[in-house]
Amino acid sequence: MSQLIQVEIAGNSSPAPNIYVLELFAPTLAANAKPGQFLHIRCAEGTDPLLRRPVSIHAVNRGTGSVRIMFQVVGQGTEMLARRQDGLLDVIGPLGRGFTWGQGHPSHTNTGSAAVDGSTTNPGGIIVVGGGIGAAPLFFLLQELAVTSAAPRVKVLLGARSADQLLTVELAATLGFKVQIATDDGSAGFHGLVTDLLAEELRQKTAHVYACGPAPMLKAVCTLLGQAKVPGEVSLEERMACGVGACLSCVCRVREPGGEENYQRACVDGPVFSAAEVVW
Ligand SMILES: Cc1cc2nc3c(=O)[nH]c(=O)nc-3n(C[C@H](O)[C@H](O)[C@H](O)COP(=O)(O)OP(=O)(O)OC[C@H]3O[C@@H](n4cnc5c(N)ncnc54)[C@H](O)[C@@H]3O)c2cc1C
Ligand code: FES
Repeated sequence: MSQLIQVEIAGNSSPAPNIYVLELFAPTLAANAKPGQFLHIRCAEGTDPLLRRPVSIHAVNRGTGSVRIMFQVVGQGTEMLARRQDGLLDVIGPLGRGFTWGQGHPSHTNTGSAAVDGSTTNPGGIIVVGGGIGAAPLFFLLQELAVTSAAPRVKVLLGARSADQLLTVELAATLGFKVQIATDDGSAGFHGLVTDLLAEELRQKTAHVYACGPAPMLKAVCTLLGQAKVPGEVSLEERMACGVGACLSCVCRVREPGGEENYQRACVDGPVFSAAEVVW
């Protein structure tokens, strides 16, 4: 259940240029959060900017009550957040519908209590694909997958423009996952797009794919999954205002199970959608 709460900032670090990780002491959030959900954050202590900013939950430690967010500074709100070192942060969360496991159409079946437990009769690989800052929410998913029986079947593909912008590679490795990387400029790993790595991996039996990243990457992921007839889920980062389903600023086009197109709100029906339902 989501709540409006004041959480204590326990730390601020910068793992890459222009990227920040805020550690929050938030035991209730830590207990309730599911991978793929987000926090709606008041970045300013005053009213400018007035609107909250949505940021995904990056990592959770339920034992210590710690919740981390990882974000890229792109404008006023994230710049203000990056300067915060301590004190209280005003957040609403956890919000949205997160990643599911094997439940089909997440916007209709997932109540926010995603069951990422790896329980499936399909023995194929589970591929987690992140592009740029899209790697941030996927790390929380990897934390959950790491303690399931599915862990040995998980493959992690991470892409970025260049080596210094690769995120969560070491973190994913510390969970025991083998990570393949791709950079646009060839400065680390495969020289090319992370979706090229995905296309190669999809030649092998695959049960499910999870993806988060820039829209062109997610569009390519959905196309590849459609061609390979592999189910998957993508987390969309639509611009949001209210974050709770009231303003319709975050609507995106989806294809309903019957084939007709409709609009859904990324903040409450997503941000995670089945790859097959997103209309690009
Ligand atoms: C569900 C969800 C989860 C998100 N999780 C993360 C996260 O974990 N880490 C992270 O760094 N960012 C995340 N974002 C994006 C983040 O919300 C925006 O970067 C932030 O709101 C920008 O605020 P700002 O005031 O700094 O910039 P603004 O001044 O509001 O915008 C600066 C620039 O960023 C662009 N922009 C703003 N919002 C978005 C968006 N949603 N998608 C694409 N471009 C945008 C604007 O068009 C503009 O060019 C998420 C967005 C959503 C909807
Ligand atoms: S942000 Fe207002 S309805 Fe989604």
